[in-house]
Amino acid sequence: MSRGFFITFEGLDGSGKSTQLKLLARSLRASGHAVTTTRQPGGTELGDQVRALLLNSKTRYVAPLAEMALMFADRAQSIQQIIAPALAQGHIVLCDRFTDSTEAYQGGGRGLGSERVLAMHRAVCGDLWPDLTLLLLPDLDASLARARRRNVRQQTQDADENRFEAEERAFYERVYSQYREIAARDVLRVVTIADDAPVDVIEKRIEKIVEERRLLRSR
Ligand code: TMP
Repeated sequence: MSRGFFITFEGLDGSGKSTQLKLLARSLRASGHAVTTTRQPGGTELGDQVRALLLNSKTRYVAPLAEMALMFADRAQSIQQIIAPALAQGHIVLCDRFTDSTEAYQGGGRGLGSERVLAMHRAVCGDLWPDLTLLLLPDLDASLARARRRNVRQQTQDADENRFEAEERAFYERVYSQYREIAARDVLRVVTIADDAPVDVIEKRIEKIVEERRLLRSR
């Protein structure tokens, strides 16, 4: 489709991926690149509504297939409205979560299995896959503790995005191991950062990985 470069950030809630996405966007812009950032679910008018619906803990029961379909509805909108046009203009697109999240959370966490998720990806997204995926996968307990602290903060700010984070540990164990499986299967696309190094150390590491990949592709 494009001559842009598509990078996704993946990981558990509380893995630090959103912070790293912002830092990378800042550094790429500072060196003169055109950068588009977005997130899933969300980023479009429709997507923000899907996000509110799916993440609010007042939404009590969502059938796993309905959850998966809504994630892909958001993704379809995001691709058409944001990602495809930005890539076509040659931008570097940084997206906070993409189909790997659906495979990890709905495929693994909810037990739908990878095949169903990948089939839906083909139907909705065609062959659009990231050029590079940065998977931040520090220790499960550290991520969960961080996510819980963030929730307490959010509750006092009136923004309830806790439906997933209220899930039990076993759910997150399945998400975690599905992420590991994706990384093992797709070694060229997915780079895993598994240690819990300070934010600035990870930031530098990510900058280096991105530069290497972009150079490699422009050869
Ligand atoms: P985040 O934007 O704060 O990372 O939160 C999004 C939540 O939605 C997170 O708990 C993971 C979940 N999610 C899925 O379950 N499936 C998906 O396909 C996506 C994009 C997100």
